[in-house]
Amino acid sequence: MPAEKPEPRIDTSVPHNARIWNYWLGGTDNYPVDREMGERIRAFFPEIADNARADRAFLVRTATYLARDEGLRQFLDIGAGLPTRDNTHEVVQAAAPDARVVYVDNDPMVLAHARTLLTGTAEGATEYVDADLRDPEAILEAADASLDFSRPVALMLLGVLNFVGDDAEVRSLLDRLLGALPPGSFLVVSHPTDDLDPDRAHQVAAAWNEKGTPKLTVRSAAGIEALFDGLELLEPGVVSCSLWRPEQTGAGAAVPVAEYGGVARKPGAR
Ligand SMILES: C[S@@+](CC[C@H](N)C(=O)[O-])C[C@H]1O[C@@H](n2cnc3c(N)ncnc32)[C@H](O)[C@@H]1O
Repeated sequence: MPAEKPEPRIDTSVPHNARIWNYWLGGTDNYPVDREMGERIRAFFPEIADNARADRAFLVRTATYLARDEGLRQFLDIGAGLPTRDNTHEVVQAAAPDARVVYVDNDPMVLAHARTLLTGTAEGATEYVDADLRDPEAILEAADASLDFSRPVALMLLGVLNFVGDDAEVRSLLDRLLGALPPGSFLVVSHPTDDLDPDRAHQVAAAWNEKGTPKLTVRSAAGIEALFDGLELLEPGVVSCSLWRPEQTGAGAAVPVAEYGGVARKPGAR
C-alpha cells in the first residue's frame, strides 16, 4: 500500500501571510504571532485592512464580470487564501451555477481549511490543489482533472505574485500558465504597489520581511502593468483595485489603496 502523504505542519512560530491576511479581513484563523505582526504593520499603515477588503471587493467585481458578462465558466485561483466571505466559487457560481473553480495554495493552514472551499454547486465543480505557484506544470496537471484547457479559463492571481521577488521568474511563471490557456482566457491580478506612498510601502515590506513568510515584494505601477504584457488590458487598465469599475453606492467616491489590479484577455480567435 502506498505511504500516506504526511500532513504538512502548521508553523505557529512565524507569521504566515495567509493567516495575517485572514486577521486583517476580520477572520479568526490566525495565531498570536500573526496578530502581533498584523498590529505592528497596522501601527504605521492603518489603512492595511482597507487594502485587504478592497482586494476582496475587486475579486468579487472581476469574477462576477467574467462569469456574467464574458461567459467564463472555468476559474483557476492561485494563492486562494483562507476561506472568508465571498470566496471565488460562491461569487462565480452565484452568477453561473455550472462554473468550475480550482483553488491552489501552498499554505498548510489553507489546506487544513480547504474542505470549506469545496462546497460548490452540484452543477459546477469546486476543487482544491495543494501546490506552489512556482511549479505551474504541477498546477496545470492537477487542474486538468477539473478544467478543460481547450476552453477559456480565468486565471486569478490576487495578492500572490508579490511573493515572487524576481521579475524574470514572475514572467516565466505567467508565460507558462498563460501558455496553457486558449485565446479568450483572462488574467486577473492584484498586487501591492509603492506607487502612492513609496516610503511607507517599503516600510511595510521591510517589517513583514523581518520575520514573515513568504517574503513580500511591492512593485511600481509600471511593474504591475508589465505583468499584462502580450494581453489586451480591459478598461480602466491597471488602477487601485478599489477604483476598478467601482459600484455606485451613493456612499461617495471609492478611495485609492496601495493594492493595484487589472484584468486582461488573451488575444486570438476562440
Ligand atoms: C494575500 S493572500 C491573498 C488571498 C486571496 N487571493 C485574496 O486576494 O484575498 C496570498 C495567498 O497566497 C498564498 N501563497 C503565497 N505564496 C504562494 C506560492 N508560492 N504558491 C501558492 N500560494 C502561495 C498564501 O498562502 C496566501 O494564502
